[in-house]
Amino acid sequence: MMRRPKKVAPPKGKLGVLTPGMGAVTTTFIAGVELIRRGQAQPVGSLTQMGTIRLGKRTEKRSPEIKKFLPLAKLDDLVFGGWDIFPDDAYRAARNAGVLAEKDLEQAKPLLSSVKPMKAVFDRNYVRRLEGGYVKKGATKWELAQQLREDIQNFKAKSRVSRLVMIWCGSTEVHLKANRIHRDLKSFEKALKANHEAISPSMLYAYAALQEGVPFANGAPNLTVDIPAMVELAQEKKVPITGKDFKTGQTLMKTIIAPGLKSRMIGLRGWFSTNILGNRDGEVLDDPESFKTKEESKLGALEYILQPKLYPALYNGFCHKVRIHYYPPRGDNKEGWDNIDIFGWLGYPMQLKVNFLCRDSILAAPLVLDLVLFLDLAQRAGLRGIQEWLSFYFKSPMCAPQLYPEHDLFIQLTKLKNTLRWLRGESLITHLGTEYYD
Ligand SMILES: NC(=O)c1ccc[n+]([C@@H]2O[C@H](COP(=O)([O-])OP(=O)(O)OC[C@H]3O[C@@H](n4cnc5c(N)ncnc54)[C@H](O)[C@@H]3O)[C@@H](O)[C@H]2O)c1
Repeated sequence: MMRRPKKVAPPKGKLGVLTPGMGAVTTTFIAGVELIRRGQAQPVGSLTQMGTIRLGKRTEKRSPEIKKFLPLAKLDDLVFGGWDIFPDDAYRAARNAGVLAEKDLEQAKPLLSSVKPMKAVFDRNYVRRLEGGYVKKGATKWELAQQLREDIQNFKAKSRVSRLVMIWCGSTEVHLKANRIHRDLKSFEKALKANHEAISPSMLYAYAALQEGVPFANGAPNLTVDIPAMVELAQEKKVPITGKDFKTGQTLMKTIIAPGLKSRMIGLRGWFSTNILGNRDGEVLDDPESFKTKEESKLGALEYILQPKLYPALYNGFCHKVRIHYYPPRGDNKEGWDNIDIFGWLGYPMQLKVNFLCRDSILAAPLVLDLVLFLDLAQRAGLRGIQEWLSFYFKSPMCAPQLYPEHDLFIQLTKLKNTLRWLRGESLITHLGTEYYD
């Protein structure tokens, strides 16, 4: 069993946040942090900033704020850097993304325009709908990974941060299957030198981060850090990793509704989900190969939550379809429709319709913030490898090979909060509660 860390090192100095991909999510995150720091906005959607945690018995009435309970880095100590295939600074990129209103953009402008991307490692074979010239050159993938390592070292020295976290907010790459070269670190490094096609650009960033001792989170559904070679490297370098694919709109709703239906033993015949989306992410996902990566990530949740093998009469053979349509007029403001065919007592059919008019990057930005702060905490606590307690944030949570991923949002939250209690030596909460009636 993993031993509880004796102490968590304090968050001394600045924390650098490195984002491969400086598009809609990254710029909305940076601008938001700046507006919050200036007291012009509230950190809505962020558990680290707004959440509380109950400790001990209910009668003790101890529910501190999470940010006071744990030594998290302060928003004032965050410093931003990143890479993109376009040379636009974060202000121009935020303008192009079209998420934020003029007044918010202008207030965050001094900071945003100071965040200039570094040249990306990019290959169109992995993201076919994009073309950008702001990219590194190198004879092999190994060489490109070394250049990324130098970028990380230079950023650290120049910005005088004491710690770093990297979070992939780049585009969704084409679907890659597990390959034997992903099996262990030795095979992976050999393949880097041989320019193997099963290594995508996002893997080079993750490899560089882990080699530099930098925790890594993956906001997209690409394999990236979810392969045995990276888990091995993370263990060896004593670095925490987590992923994959931010759980924001439709899948968030799915993992809220499905556990509810199952808890009442309500059956499911089918779940049809469709979306219209008009941002650059939507354009990339219009390529069937990138969509396949996303589709796999979106489809998994229901199967795991409903457990058809345990409940064949309720969930065997239910039909699950997910569609995303690129529809430019909507920009970042996605609209999702879910038609859910359910059945109740005596098998009588019913329907549930969900129409979610959401804003993709507004939902994703607080997740980036929480993941950055929690990964930095994990690093200072000496936790390494896969951080399953951060499943709460992902559509395809990473977990140990012998486990199935936990998708139920409420179990994920309990796991997350119990991990925080465990880190501080507080008793875990089981919700048994018999002691109140003795
Ligand atoms: N917003 C959400 O709700 C949400 C939810 C889940 C996952 N995601 C994922 O998060 C990622 C970012 O979303 P977004 O809306 O900001 O997309 P975006 O298209 O606005 O930004 C992605 C940026 O990554 C850059 N990029 C692509 N490949 C790169 C590379 N190899 N190196 C450096 N930069 C690269 C692109 O040029 C672009 O600027 C996407 O993969 C998306 O699927 C977003």
